[in-house]
Amino acid sequence: MTKSQFKVLFLITFSSLLVTRSYSAADDVKLDVSESAFKCLNELAASGRFFVDNVLGNLAETLEVANSSTGGEYPPGSLVTLVPIEAMVKHQEGWNPATNDWEFFLLDVSAEGTTIVERGGAEVLNQAGSCFGCHQLARPEWDLVCGVDHGCAPLPFTLEQIRAAQAMDPRCTTEN
Ligand code: HEC
Repeated sequence: MTKSQFKVLFLITFSSLLVTRSYSAADDVKLDVSESAFKCLNELAASGRFFVDNVLGNLAETLEVANSSTGGEYPPGSLVTLVPIEAMVKHQEGWNPATNDWEFFLLDVSAEGTTIVERGGAEVLNQAGSCFGCHQLARPEWDLVCGVDHGCAPLPFTLEQIRAAQAMDPRCTTEN
């Protein structure tokens, strides 16, 4: 092997090591969020207009931030949802700094449960556009949660329409 061949080989090996390392770092902080994490809205905790849960069991801290009048940083595991087909879940710190570690989910829901249609960061869309595109307008202390007065442009739905969409969650069986 010539010296320059060695240099190329060294560079390829070294850069692939770097890539592997950065992936495993993100994997360490990625929570395992499967379809069973998304439940009938009645089974979640209500906070104002939306519902919350925590896939790591830390519901108390999630609720504390959601109910705060001054905002705050949602803890890892926080799951927030307004209507059955959309949710956001907070991973561990460092998963995706661009979205403050929130993952956006577009869901399909039926009596059988939840199917994940789309998941990820800024690339996840609904009919109105990028979830992140709208939610990033929330002022920093609100951690991408829009609410009604956190800085996002309002949705063209009344509270009554939102409540109706919540009440029609097909995942909720008759015992609820
Ligand atoms: C056109 C802008 C826009 C888009 C696109 C959008 N949202 Fe929202 N979202 C809002 C606004 C505004 C609210 C607050 C609505 C209210 O309470 O009246 C909201 C509410 C929510 C809530 C309840 C917590 C909160 O922020 O108030 C969740 C969860 C949510 N959206 C997730 C999503 C997901 C997931 C997507 C993509 C699949 C998405 N949104 C796309 C603007 C948007």
